[in-house]
Order: sequence, then C-alpha cells, then structure tokens
Amino acid sequence: MEREWAFSTKLLHNEWKVDRETGAVSVPIQHASTFHQFDFDLFGKYDYSRSGNPTREALEETIAALEGGVRGFAFASGMAAISTAFLLLSKGDHVLVTEDVYGGTYRMITEVLGRFGIEYTFVDMTDLRAVAENIRPNTKVIYMETPSNPLLKVTDIQGVVKLAKAHGCLTFLDNTFMTPALQRPLDLGVDIVLHSATKFLAGHSDVVAGLAVVKDEELGKELYKLQNAFGAVLGVQDAWLVLRGLKTLHVRLKQSSESAAAIAKYLACHPKVEEVYYPGLDNHPGHDIQRHQAAGFGAVLSFRLADEEAARTFVRNVRLPVFAVSLGAVESILSYPAKMSHAAMPKEERLRRGITDGLLRLSVGLEDVNDLIRDFEQALSFVKERPSVPST
Ligand SMILES: Cc1ncc(COP(=O)(O)O)c(C=O)c1O
Repeated sequence: MEREWAFSTKLLHNEWKVDRETGAVSVPIQHASTFHQFDFDLFGKYDYSRSGNPTREALEETIAALEGGVRGFAFASGMAAISTAFLLLSKGDHVLVTEDVYGGTYRMITEVLGRFGIEYTFVDMTDLRAVAENIRPNTKVIYMETPSNPLLKVTDIQGVVKLAKAHGCLTFLDNTFMTPALQRPLDLGVDIVLHSATKFLAGHSDVVAGLAVVKDEELGKELYKLQNAFGAVLGVQDAWLVLRGLKTLHVRLKQSSESAAAIAKYLACHPKVEEVYYPGLDNHPGHDIQRHQAAGFGAVLSFRLADEEAARTFVRNVRLPVFAVSLGAVESILSYPAKMSHAAMPKEERLRRGITDGLLRLSVGLEDVNDLIRDFEQALSFVKERPSVPST
C-alpha cells in the first residue's frame, strides 16, 4: 500500500493544489451567489452559494481530509459552527458540558439553549467518574474542549467517548487549541470536531471563521441540512484566507509550541508567578494523557499572578505581545480571561472554575523566544511582590 504523506506535506499537496481549469496554484475565489442552470431538468452541482460554493467547498474538503473525516463544513465563526452543531438537539434533550469551556460557548448554552428547553450540566471533565454520574437518560451530547480555555485542563478523550457510546450519546470536541496537526479527535471516536478557525488554522488575526467535521455520512447529511437551514456560512474571501493560513499551520504550530514550552518553564521558576498552566509541564495533572492522545502540547499557556493589580501592571509594561481577545496567531497575544474570553461568565462561576483576577493567558506567536522572555522579565520586574503572610 502506498504510504500516506506526512501532515505537513498534506497541507500543501492535496486535491486543491492546482485549479484543474487553469493550473492556478491558489484556489480561485468564486464570488457568485447563484449559478446558471444549463438544463431545465438537470441542475448542476451548485445552485446557490448558501447551499454550496466551490471556494467554501475547497476549505470544507481540506479540513475534512486533515481531521480524517468524511465531510467538513465552514461557518461564519467558531460560534456559528458550535451553535449549528447544537441545533442537532431538540427540546427535552440534555447536554453534558466541560466546566472549563470557552465563555462564548457557555453563553450559548446557558442563555440560548435553555430557552429552547434543552437541559445542560457542567462537569469537571477531567474526572471520568463525575462524567458518568451526570449522564442522564435524556443526555444526547457530551461536549469536550481539550486542552480547555483558559486553564488548559486535559480531558481523556477516549475515556469520555467510551462512556458516551455506552449511553448512546454523541460527542462533540472543540479542537481549536490543538488543530489536526496535534490532535485528531475523530480517530479517537469523537463524532463532531469543532473549530474556531479564527485561531491557529487561519493563523494571522485577519479572519473570523468556524469549521465542523464529521466521520459519519448520515451525521454529515444532518449537519449539512442544518448548515443550509441556519445559513451561517463562511464567505468566500474568508474561506480563501483560511486555506492560505492552513498551508503554514504545521511550521507555525511547531515553532510556537517550542517557544511556549520554554516560556512555561521560565514562568514556572519566576517568584512572582503563582502558577503556570501548560500541559507540557511534567507536573501538569493532564501531562500524561496529553502525551498519549496528542502529538504535542500546543502554543497556549496561562499563568496566575497575585491579583488584578499585578496582572494590570504586567500588561501595561509588556511590549511584545498584543493585549487582545483571541489566540493562535503569528504575533503573541496576551489576554485577560476575566474581562475578555470569560466576561460572559458570572464572577462567582468564573472564580469557582479557577479563572481568577490574576490569571493571564498567553498565545505564543513567532517572535524570537529569547526576546519574549526578556520582555516578560522586564514586565515582571514592575509587578509588586505579594506581601508575605506573617507566620504566627
Ligand atoms: C476554544 C474556542 N472555541 C470557540 C471559540 C469561538 O470562536 P469564534 O470567535 O471564531 O466565534 C473560541 C474563541 O475564542 C475559542 O477560543
């Protein structure tokens, strides 16, 4: 049997490498919203761009192949992909969700799904016993995000899939932090892989996009129906930007992950940093599972300073990373989850989940790692020491 190409080769040499009509080495952008039908009785492959568009299809087939699925779908944002997948649920169904979930997904579940009579429970998905205990007869979906945002908690994917299959539930997994370069959930039995393609897949902070991939044809047909019915499809310019970004995914993620590991080690030894959350650190509780189920630890880490004032001082003094919402770009991005990704979460919920006022999240980009560390060193020098508690 012919050996499959490596992932980095597949990113470049696929069905979409050259346009069959012209030989162009970039996927043509097809702007048409509608398509002329040459035969009254026999319509062509495309009729209207919400239902199907050649440029979007190139991206959908590319992500399906990279994730090892049969069908991919491109949406106007990660949240559009996630929300459309949730439309598979009906009134009276129950969804079990990882506690440490992206704030926008939390908002969709708590403020929207509830209104449609869909029940939900948040659970610490690193604890398989808690997952098993919270499955109900009406549980239809178990929703994972691993490593999670922003605490980088690692879920045992196969463990959850086993429980889901035993109870006839579907599994969804948000693979934004890993991408198929590092983690292939469909190979581990997951039913739907979801992405904010805004992040590493596109990689340049210049597009908002979402993707979903399935391995089962029937599920693919259902999701296609929902994509077309709900209509939150990705525009063609944006589909092209994601396709272009994908070509360098492997090399970007490799470099950024290496730098993230070095920065995590540096921060872990710094006296003003109270905790570092990065699955690549030996003492991370999910380190072994991550090593087993993924091909790397990724380029995102979080770290905890003493309090909000310490975080503010650090952000004001750091020079290289942009201070912004989002992650997974060529430039390093520093975020403050309490006011950014998790602003939609009530404070007490946020604190209960460990998303404290001193927590910062860093998505490592492609800057020289020594420059980043030097910059962090100078920014941390402005942060006040936490006053020591006098011993009694
Ligand atoms: C893990 C994760 N999932 C989903 C989303 C939502 O994606 P989008 O912003 O593209 O709608 C985000 C955005 O930050 C995210 O970090």
